[in-house]
Amino acid sequence: MKKTITTLLVAGAAGTAAILAGAYSGVINVGADDPHHPAVYAFLSMARDRSIEARSKDIVVPDLDDENLIRGGAGNYNAMCVGCHLAPGVELTELSQALYPAPPNLAKIGIDASPASAFWVIKHGIKATGMPAWGKSMGDEYIWGMVAFLSQLPKIDATQYQALVAASGGHQHGGGESQTRNHDGLDGSNSDHHGNVAAGGEPGRRGIAAADHHGGSASESDHHSASSNGDDHHDGSNSSSKGSSATDDHAEPSSNTHTHTDGKVHVHGS
Ligand code: HEC
Repeated sequence: MKKTITTLLVAGAAGTAAILAGAYSGVINVGADDPHHPAVYAFLSMARDRSIEARSKDIVVPDLDDENLIRGGAGNYNAMCVGCHLAPGVELTELSQALYPAPPNLAKIGIDASPASAFWVIKHGIKATGMPAWGKSMGDEYIWGMVAFLSQLPKIDATQYQALVAASGGHQHGGGESQTRNHDGLDGSNSDHHGNVAAGGEPGRRGIAAADHHGGSASESDHHSASSNGDDHHDGSNSSSKGSSATDDHAEPSSNTHTHTDGKVHVHGS
């Protein structure tokens, strides 16, 4: 018995030392374009799911059918989440395809676990994944708004999405303005966004306009079906991410120009 324990301890210590030495040598590729080994991925997923489950089990869920809650959530989702999590009519963004682990397409899955765990994830974020802790700048009721909205999201189409966002009063939350300067995590040009508010513009107007412009209205889908690459690559939030009228996924190999619905021609460096 004693011998078995000693053997196990020695083997454990040797294994730990080998892992440490390997990591120290730099052999682990931390590049986001190099997927985890499936076993590592499975381990991390298990740890994440169990962690979220344990931490959200006592959270009390409010009435998620409340229309005000859903409407408020739509405006915030459109302003802060579309760039990573997509929306009806927004199939792909630069962020959605570049992050690893990839942000789930919430337009399709909504909240796939429980509302309580979705609330926990939105409030606290997920370490080393790109999912921000929105609770640093947003009050709980605004986070519940997004949970309520997410439970509806897979059921609505692009037109209904835009109508909800337009009805939402835009982007609003419970944090102090000074804390929230850089809150949306997508955005290198927050001064624009907040500049609008300060100047008396409708809060959230930019987000809505961006969704209108890119989000699957009849004219927009015409625009896309007419384009030869067939790649619906516009992003409802990109206009704020780069501070220009629109930024695009430049995946198409041959073309580096295209025309937007507002008639502006965009030329990309390749
Ligand atoms: C910069 C990109 C980014 C932004 C912005 C972002 N998220 Fe995420 N989010 C992620 C990533 C990446 C994951 C997956 C993390 C993982 O695999 O563990 C995630 C996971 C989630 C999940 C868990 C989904 C599931 O079923 O596992 C929810 C819910 C969520 N995000 C909601 C939101 C909401 C609401 C917003 C806006 C307030 C938001 N996220 C903004 C990157 C982002």
